Amino acid sequence: MFELPELNIGGLKAKYPIIQGGMAIRISGSKLAGAVAREGGIGVIAGIAMSPKELEKEIKEAREKSEGKGLLGINVLYAVSNFAELIKTGMKAGIDLVLQGAGFSRDIYDWGRKFNVPIVPIVSSASLAKLAQKLGAAAVVVEGFEAGGHLGTDRPMLDILPEVVKAVKIPVIAAGGILHGQDIYRVLKMGAQGVQMGTRFAASKESGAPDNYKQLYLEAKPEDSILINSPVGLPGRGIRNFLTERLFAGEKIKINKCTKCMKKCSQTFCIREALENAQEGRIKEGIIFAGKRVAEIKDILSVKEIFDNLKKEFSEACRQNLAVESILP
Ligand SMILES: Cc1cc2nc3c(=O)[nH]c(=O)nc-3n(C[C@H](O)[C@H](O)[C@H](O)COP(=O)(O)O)c2cc1C
Repeated sequence: MFELPELNIGGLKAKYPIIQGGMAIRISGSKLAGAVAREGGIGVIAGIAMSPKELEKEIKEAREKSEGKGLLGINVLYAVSNFAELIKTGMKAGIDLVLQGAGFSRDIYDWGRKFNVPIVPIVSSASLAKLAQKLGAAAVVVEGFEAGGHLGTDRPMLDILPEVVKAVKIPVIAAGGILHGQDIYRVLKMGAQGVQMGTRFAASKESGAPDNYKQLYLEAKPEDSILINSPVGLPGRGIRNFLTERLFAGEKIKINKCTKCMKKCSQTFCIREALENAQEGRIKEGIIFAGKRVAEIKDILSVKEIFDNLKKEFSEACRQNLAVESILP
């Protein structure tokens, strides 16, 4: 049996090089993050739309569920208005590391030094990866356009990854379109030190998505993976549904109550309300974020089963010494 290697980030060690991507709103809470950490990965709580109190509580509960194993992170999008408050709350609550996407913060590195917490930005180019390294990032997540959620690029991850690996010395984590152990084998061979996976974990027993949301994942066909224009000014990848069809038709969607939750918002619709609708089961009126390979998800598994499969598939790929070109799309 070939073992998945450890992942070292800023002096911290995870038994397996697998980060469960932060998934808003409340898709990755304490239950999912704690289960991932318990299996030896890095579980990540998505902080957006949480109050500082709620985030603190989620961190405490995730820590209990992890049974002292693995590592725990928080993910807060730069685009949210209370970004600084949430990040500092997580740091004070003893989170192991902080991931940050949807925009680029320079201040976060000072906060990381102050609280001794490694910062891992999510980037989509070698130039941003280099800047992050210069500012003090402990690692970078390279996210391609296959990823679910808000996107910073229209390029495939496998195109960007070699550029970033060449440009920086800190660990590089590949994100977007990773579903199987063979995918992990492939990106590690290309120089990544680990992976970040969203869609596979959103479709887990422990994810915060309701059953009808998970059912949409199981029913999705390849052509149902679509890009919307998020009001925060970025494209977002999700699954076609009633709401996205209305958006594509140019319909104005009523905003019930604006809480000014984003630093910048075009107000074409309320992304927070749409994500909350989805997480609360009103899926027709919600945005269901999911990655481009969602149609390959055929079952809702427990986090343990997902890890067992990834370990088995990775070992098999090593045993066969698969050529990078021969693996998957
Ligand atoms: C339902 C869902 C919600 C997401 N929300 C966030 C988020 O709040 N912040 C973030 O940085 N990334 C978010 N992402 C991206 C994931 O963290 C991860 O990088 C991405 O899903 C990886 O691609 P994959 O889905 O192909 O595995 C989200 C992804 C999904 C599927």
